[in-house]
Amino acid sequence: MCGIIGYIGKKEANRILISGLERLEYRGYDSAGVAIIDDNNNNENNDNKINTNKVKGRVENLKCKNIPGMIGIAHTRWATHGRPSDANAHPFVDKTQDFAIVHNGIIENYLELKEELRKEGVSFTSDTDSEVIVHLIARNYSNNIKEAVIKTVKKLQGAYAFCVIKNDKKEIIGARNGSPLIVGVGEEENFLASDVSAVVEYTKKVIYLGDFQIAEVKNDSLNIYDFNGDEKEIEIKTIDWNLELAQKDGYKHFMLKEIFEQPKVIEDTLKVKMDIKKDFSKIIMVACGTASYAGLVGKYLIEKIAKIPVTYEIASEFRYREPLIDENDLVIAISQSGETADTLAAIRLAKEKGAKTLGLINVVDSTIAREVDDVLYTRAGPEIGVASTKAFISQLILIYKLAFKLAGKEFYFDLNKFKETLSLNEKLKELAKKYFLYQNFLYIGRNTSFPLALEGALKLKEISYIHAEAYPAGELKHGPIALVSEDMPTLAICPMDEVYLKTFSNIEEIKARDGKVISIATEGDQKIKEISDDIIYVPKVEEIFYPLLITIPLQLFAYHIADLKECDIDKPRNLAKSVTVE
Ligand code: F6R
Repeated sequence: MCGIIGYIGKKEANRILISGLERLEYRGYDSAGVAIIDDNNNNENNDNKINTNKVKGRVENLKCKNIPGMIGIAHTRWATHGRPSDANAHPFVDKTQDFAIVHNGIIENYLELKEELRKEGVSFTSDTDSEVIVHLIARNYSNNIKEAVIKTVKKLQGAYAFCVIKNDKKEIIGARNGSPLIVGVGEEENFLASDVSAVVEYTKKVIYLGDFQIAEVKNDSLNIYDFNGDEKEIEIKTIDWNLELAQKDGYKHFMLKEIFEQPKVIEDTLKVKMDIKKDFSKIIMVACGTASYAGLVGKYLIEKIAKIPVTYEIASEFRYREPLIDENDLVIAISQSGETADTLAAIRLAKEKGAKTLGLINVVDSTIAREVDDVLYTRAGPEIGVASTKAFISQLILIYKLAFKLAGKEFYFDLNKFKETLSLNEKLKELAKKYFLYQNFLYIGRNTSFPLALEGALKLKEISYIHAEAYPAGELKHGPIALVSEDMPTLAICPMDEVYLKTFSNIEEIKARDGKVISIATEGDQKIKEISDDIIYVPKVEEIFYPLLITIPLQLFAYHIADLKECDIDKPRNLAKSVTVE
């Protein structure tokens, strides 16, 4: 993953780069660094120095040092090769310290390249795959950075977006293959960045670099080339982004703010126009993590409502099998970021096999959004909390709309019931006090409540670091029930739906083995109270709409537990918001 940014202009680069990195921190926050050309040194030889400041940990650690200069690059890291440390932090410089690079992605053949460079006398200062890039560029340089980059990319295997500067050149070169990179177009200043959030404070004009493209960026001009060095046409887009959306508005965490934004998100996503022809015989949902659980809810809903067969696929598995799909199939990719490497690869595979592709995507003009045949945008707005909440609810809304549309029926959802469910917040805060010291949880549900159990358990794991396993309630007796004890509570999702009595019996089985049970049930259900240690009631709605309501207590339960444990909720350890490596 990682976030990268470059600035060239007439202002001090350090402040701009660091504020850009803060907006990119959702992409990784293991270490951070900047490299800036000290161009005050206008001597005859033009031998300016590149100064770097790089540290393990968060971007804010960079703030205690100011590096002068108006051309620079910066990086916030999600470690892939080499543990988080000062030495493994980007930018990397070559041995002359004339070149500096920042990289997002994975260089798969780095060991081979390292060996080759070592034989030429290069010594390495880090354990990363990225460092080979700077040494290759230095080796390939004669008098033109772009040419050196063209030679270098021919040697690289894997996915990458990188930026490079040279001490005596007033330009930044960016190259992209598989990882995102945009150019921000300003007045007498220009930017390169992993995404628009890093530059939106300065410009709304952006160029989305395509794969196998190189950007040559100066403060008053820019050119785009392909990897053969042929110049490409430039298409500048104006983005519709608003920085206020990315503020906490008095909430303690972005995650809580984003949970409470959900009624608005539903309202906005309900307005999405959908014009879909049923010219396929089956649907394949591909996605990762939370987005994949929305896809699994989609399988249950579309098969039930529209009577169309749907298979559900984890993108990282799908892409490395030989899936039996063809031009009669519709592959639906679900993604908040629109950049997830595995989901993108799954879509490319589907297209290769002739299938139609549709994206349910949140970030407008992201890579997946641009590559699918058709895109429907979820209208969740920028999601900053690493744990996905409002994006999930917006994905569910699009899936409901799709199911109803394919069935030729009208879709109506009463938002008031959803708003009412948010008032459970205080109750869940109290409940969290009783449970936050447990180390293990089971989550169970049947039918659409099973993907919700997966999602609830994922939320708890990722933000509170408590071990949680989710199972279809009917599977318990095939093994996991052996885990049940008074030390491992179960969160049972048991609304008044067609499988109510079945899940009810599973809860009884847990109680018979001294397990503690928190039930999420339908208001008015007195019977379930008798067999539950704690109960969370959601309002009564039409059966198929329970997933929308039940999502709220799952999110809030995980949130309050993590808050009591004083976890870094918006930036959980080891994670990143946008997973652009496989
Ligand atoms: C969990 C979470 C992740 C993402 C997954 C896919 O809270 O956010 O599991 O859902 O990494 O990301 P997108 O939706 O950007 O493709």
